[in-house]
Amino acid sequence: MTGRREARGRRKASAWRAALLVVTLIVGVNAQGLAQPRWSEDEVRAIGAHGPWPPPATLDPSNRVSGRPAAIALGERLFNDVRLSGDGTLSCASCHQSERNWSDGRARARGRVGLDRRTPSLWNVGQGYWFGWDGAADSLWAQSLRPIIDPREMAASAGRVAALLRGEPTLSCLYRRAFGTAPGQDDEAVLVEAAKALAAFQETLVSPRTAFDDFRDALVAGDSAAAAHYPAAAQRGLKIFVGIGNCNACHFGPRFTNGEFGDVGVPFFVRPGVVDSGRMGGLAKLAASPFNRLGPYNDDKSDAGALRTRHVQRLHANFGEFRVPGLRQLGSAGPYMHNGQLATLQDVVRHYSEVDPDRLHSDGVPLVRPLALSADDQADLVAFLRSLTAEPPARAVTTPECGAG
Ligand code: HEC
Ligand code: HEC
Repeated sequence: MTGRREARGRRKASAWRAALLVVTLIVGVNAQGLAQPRWSEDEVRAIGAHGPWPPPATLDPSNRVSGRPAAIALGERLFNDVRLSGDGTLSCASCHQSERNWSDGRARARGRVGLDRRTPSLWNVGQGYWFGWDGAADSLWAQSLRPIIDPREMAASAGRVAALLRGEPTLSCLYRRAFGTAPGQDDEAVLVEAAKALAAFQETLVSPRTAFDDFRDALVAGDSAAAAHYPAAAQRGLKIFVGIGNCNACHFGPRFTNGEFGDVGVPFFVRPGVVDSGRMGGLAKLAASPFNRLGPYNDDKSDAGALRTRHVQRLHANFGEFRVPGLRQLGSAGPYMHNGQLATLQDVVRHYSEVDPDRLHSDGVPLVRPLALSADDQADLVAFLRSLTAEPPARAVTTPECGAG
């Protein structure tokens, strides 16, 4: 009861502060003659929902070594280790490069062969439930396992990975620290443990705070002086984002994604006669995978542990839907979209401005429609998207001492 009353009190206080800010901003505009937008209570609420940042750290109950320092250290080692690939030439870091936003700058990834999709960034990847552009994996560890054994990507096998973890002194020492036992005799089980360590490492990839986050916090706190530091163009772009653009219908919450799937009119033709069915095919792969949450490797045995996987339904509308990407750290990380077909953020904004409604095949209420934005509006929206990027702090290189003696 007290908790609820307190929450109501807090809501009242913040609504009051927001109202105060609306007033001060109007005055500020008049006094300074700046073209900074005013914010309604609804807008302040919508913008507030994109924070706070960084979010509180959470553990993944499906992965018993989630958050464990020893598992993170093992995962980081494995992430950079080319011996995880069949011919010893590719590591995860070949495609997910830290200096390239954990992607590779290519429109479509190249493994042993050319792939049909772009390498997504791994920033904030720990907070999703569905992974891959098509949601074919329902945990970060299952997604991390896939490229290791996929013949088009790293083309290794459970046997190869298990032998490496059993035989290499540093890796097997780190494994014992992370899991409390030496790698067992079941190759597939050891492969899953390696993937869980990889997941523990990737959970640490949280993007830095940005100019937007400072603005968002100032707006919510009613601090108009601090809010005024945020460039006017980004403010105008933000107004479009949460307003006529309706962008936050899908790019929702602190990560700027609702974690679900959508169709924004990006063509799903791969080459003549071949289509990428997106979520439709992803759900079939998910159901067929021995590594989904309904299988034996899910460490979360509670009812909630596989609830979403058990109840997800395949719908006609899933055809051609792709996962809504988060929008943090997109800065100069193009190309964009699942197939890398748009080179710059300007191109993305133009796409939303001119999208052909006939391209959209979503059922029900369309969330995307051609916005017909002026050149100035498009530039403002780009300025806002850019304000979601900041220079990440330098990464400390970890060289855990273990085993090698
Ligand atoms: C050949 C390049 C390549 C390599 C090597 C590679 N990846 Fe990826 N990664 C991709 C591509 C492409 C996708 C998108 C896959 C899809 O949607 O089908 C992806 C998707 C992912 C995702 C899902 C991200 C999201 O937002 O849903 C994770 C996590 C991931 N990779 C981790 C890894 C790990 C861990 C390794 C090493 C074991 C690895 N990747 C190796 C190209 C690569
Ligand atoms: C219906 C949900 C939806 C709405 C509304 C929406 N988006 Fe998207 N957005 C997506 C999906 C899904 C993708 C990925 C599409 C693909 O790759 O085929 C995407 C991709 C993007 C990307 C590229 C990100 C990347 O990593 O490639 C940007 C930038 C973006 N959207 C910005 C916006 C802006 C700005 C608006 C408002 C004008 C908006 N979105 C409205 C769902 C949506």
